[in-house]
Amino acid sequence: MPASAHQNIVLIGFMGSGKSSIGRLIAGRLGFQFVDTDAVVVERAGMDIPKVFARHGEAHFRKLETAVLESMAMRDRCVISTGGGVIVRPGNRTLLRRLGFVVWLTASEEVIYQRVSRNKRRPLLQTENPRETVAKLLESREPAYAETAQFRLDTTVMSRAAAADVVIAEARRAFSWQGPA
Ligand code: S3P
Repeated sequence: MPASAHQNIVLIGFMGSGKSSIGRLIAGRLGFQFVDTDAVVVERAGMDIPKVFARHGEAHFRKLETAVLESMAMRDRCVISTGGGVIVRPGNRTLLRRLGFVVWLTASEEVIYQRVSRNKRRPLLQTENPRETVAKLLESREPAYAETAQFRLDTTVMSRAAAADVVIAEARRAFSWQGPA
């Protein structure tokens, strides 16, 4: 059973795990609204994420991220894609579970690294050794993802469409939805 009465699907997982692309597919198939918490932060801050980090620091970004989760509390029938670090604050873990059915998307460290190295818009990976940063962050965050999610899906060798199908099937089970797919 989901920990929430709201029929939202919440996607958590490391940067590059496919939350936004898979989330958009799920929302399209279910006729749900797609919400990307990073995009809401950007809209509210009036600047992109690298600028929020550079001008105000990570702690400020985390506050904005929590405020977005809080503002989602009354929403229903949304697919909510979150930033990879949303689970770092313990309070967020509770908020996420209240929002709906929480799915943790994972991929192998190698695949994550390949995906995130394609662009330079992630402030936390602008380090001397991004490969090592990915490994360390993955290891330190894993328990928090595990604690928050009700279902885990490894997308390493899956197409986005196949991953969306699996999440939808699990959500149907979690929400006890009846009827045709
Ligand atoms: C972050 C992940 C990013 C974004 C910010 C911080 C993180 O989102 O929220 O750069 O701490 O892992 P994506 O997971 O969508 O890249």
